[in-house]
Amino acid sequence: MKKIAVITSGGDCPGMNAAIRAAVRVALAAGIEVWGIKNGYAGMINDDMINLDSRSVGDIIQKGGTFLGTARSEEFKTLAGRQKAVANLQKHGIEGLIIIGGDGSLTGAKLLSELGIKMVGLPGTIDNDIWGTDYTIGFDTAVNTALDAINKLRDTASSHGRVMLVEVMGRACGWIALTAGLAGGAETILIPEQPFSPDIICKQLVESRAKGKKYSIVVVAEGAGSAVKLGEYILAKTGLETRVSILGHIQRGGAPTVSDRLLASRLAERAVTALLAGRSEIMIGYQNNECVEVPIAEAVGKKKDIDPELYRLANVLAQ
Ligand code: F6P
Repeated sequence: MKKIAVITSGGDCPGMNAAIRAAVRVALAAGIEVWGIKNGYAGMINDDMINLDSRSVGDIIQKGGTFLGTARSEEFKTLAGRQKAVANLQKHGIEGLIIIGGDGSLTGAKLLSELGIKMVGLPGTIDNDIWGTDYTIGFDTAVNTALDAINKLRDTASSHGRVMLVEVMGRACGWIALTAGLAGGAETILIPEQPFSPDIICKQLVESRAKGKKYSIVVVAEGAGSAVKLGEYILAKTGLETRVSILGHIQRGGAPTVSDRLLASRLAERAVTALLAGRSEIMIGYQNNECVEVPIAEAVGKKKDIDPELYRLANVLAQ
């Protein structure tokens, strides 16, 4: 293999730049030419690709987002679109692809491999919902952003004695809510994986006042329901004053944490070495502090469960 390409696809996440940088530099050190595909699969279809040298990935390790750009492409979902994309890769002599993205993006790369392009995926999403890896690139930064918000909301919640609801991202998955909620000492954490009753939450909030708590933090995963609606319900039912903060895309940005930079760099190095050794149709995951190769067919199309132990602990500590 003489030439490979790197692409970021789907929703961006902090650490994507660190992964691109590492993939480029490891490949260059092995004498391999590297191309960057702009704006996700749309760029592959439109032949929007640039040659990357070592300097072109300088000064990006500390930046959130992805300097290659990213997108969600409808055309790529069609066979004709993917054939066009593969023809462009072949025109440039690109034999292997490193794809950094979430479940949909990795599934797309698997489909490309069926058309003759070797691929290795890296799990890149703030949601931490990819099967086969303990952590995804971007999760740690997003959780720390959520935690910072919770810390700040505590200050004002305690001054006013309010119930503060914080809605965090995560799509259909509760990892961000659970992790930030536990680390932030939330009284209640609502996640899609655990059914809950708004009436029981109201009862618990009232009881917690009786126990001496002066204010409450409720973390709501976006997949569990609307924090705005729940806030209105709690006010109507209990009379407790509520305020809602929806953190939104703030969680997608910012300088990646140490953990995300290390994870991105290590996974990317392994992706290049695996690709150069001729392996394909795999995702590099991180399990028990080690990089591992996971068959892509096993990693995509299913959701990684939250850790029930963390959920149990969060509830114990919320007493
Ligand atoms: O998958 C990452 C994520 O940020 C989810 O947490 C969220 O539901 C979604 O993407 C938002 O997508 P968009 O960038 O299209 O608004």
